[in-house]
Amino acid sequence: MKTLFEKVNVGGNELTNRMVMAPMTRNRADENGDPNGLMVEYYKQRTSFGLIITEGTAPSHVGKAYPGIPGIYTDSQIAGWKKITEAVHASGGRIFMQLMHSGRISHTKITGLNPISASAVTPAGELFTGSGMDPFETPKEMSLQDITDVKASFVTAAKNAIAAGFDGVELHGANGYLLHQFLAPNSNIRTDEYGGSIGNRCKFVIEVVSAVVEAIGADKTAIRISPNGTFNDMAETDTEEMYSYLINAINNLGIAFLHVSNQPGFDSITFARKLFNGCIIANSGYADKTKVETAKRIIESGEADLFSFGRLALANPDLPKRLAQGLELNTGDSKTFYSRGPIGYTDYPVAP
Ligand SMILES: Cc1cc2nc3c(=O)[nH]c(=O)nc-3n(C[C@H](O)[C@H](O)[C@H](O)COP(=O)(O)O)c2cc1C
Repeated sequence: MKTLFEKVNVGGNELTNRMVMAPMTRNRADENGDPNGLMVEYYKQRTSFGLIITEGTAPSHVGKAYPGIPGIYTDSQIAGWKKITEAVHASGGRIFMQLMHSGRISHTKITGLNPISASAVTPAGELFTGSGMDPFETPKEMSLQDITDVKASFVTAAKNAIAAGFDGVELHGANGYLLHQFLAPNSNIRTDEYGGSIGNRCKFVIEVVSAVVEAIGADKTAIRISPNGTFNDMAETDTEEMYSYLINAINNLGIAFLHVSNQPGFDSITFARKLFNGCIIANSGYADKTKVETAKRIIESGEADLFSFGRLALANPDLPKRLAQGLELNTGDSKTFYSRGPIGYTDYPVAP
């Protein structure tokens, strides 16, 4: 029987256990998107996870979602991340960068640029723009040239991530950001070859994955999906058919892993296991806060190969040790999830 605590090979990397730190936006980067010393400390504290997946990181300036989000599109950002990958590797950890293009989940007040998306459809709701909340703006519908440019920006970002020492990149195809905006029929109402049918709506995502595979190698490329997810005003109508199509298309590519965030109303983990022929990382999804027992069951039953922990990893830098030894767990404070500075970030205690 497999357990959370045993070694596993992912994308050619020998991981010390099957526990993954899930990607978590923490808004602690410098204003220009540079990672800083505080972030080095935060990731260094969590190197006992078999794999760390970083917070969503902007592949280009227009793709920056919120203030305090790091980027991977300038030399100083690459240099800043290098300190993080070096610290993680020095402790025997492995780290993938999550590339998160925000698409319409951004704002002129954050980037100085009009957000872009599959279509000019304004998401319901508002977002934090720096000093307060603002309603979402109507994004610019991406032209075919924009599509080419954004694909190129993903490729450059992926190459930059490798130059910064990352073991690979996870493309953020979940939670209502740009890639998901192409998939969902309520955010993608295009009438050209990137909209309409399932094949057309999946086309951009498949092209981005393929281009990144081509640029940095399949063993260094991964993708996260959240079938049936509604976060950021997503509404899918053909979840099963669409994700079957998408998974079948990426099966040929041999990527490092498929990271599946389970959402209410659709059992994505078993679904993905049936279709995907590679390594699967399971995640509980935000609505269903991870229970340790669930994580253990999913690994022991073979439903997935690894399990990613979000809020428990945030609050317990030494979670692998705590779970292995059955120690008590810290609880995260949601008030400091997205605040600035070390409080609620690097000050969670480790077990004695
Ligand atoms: C503070 C915070 C920030 C998050 N940011 C991201 C992100 O940048 N990218 C992403 O794919 N998911 C993000 N998530 C979702 C987590 O990766 C994870 O799917 C979710 O928290 C459910 O897992 P959990 O129950 O173990 O926390 C975030 C979650 C939290 C709590």
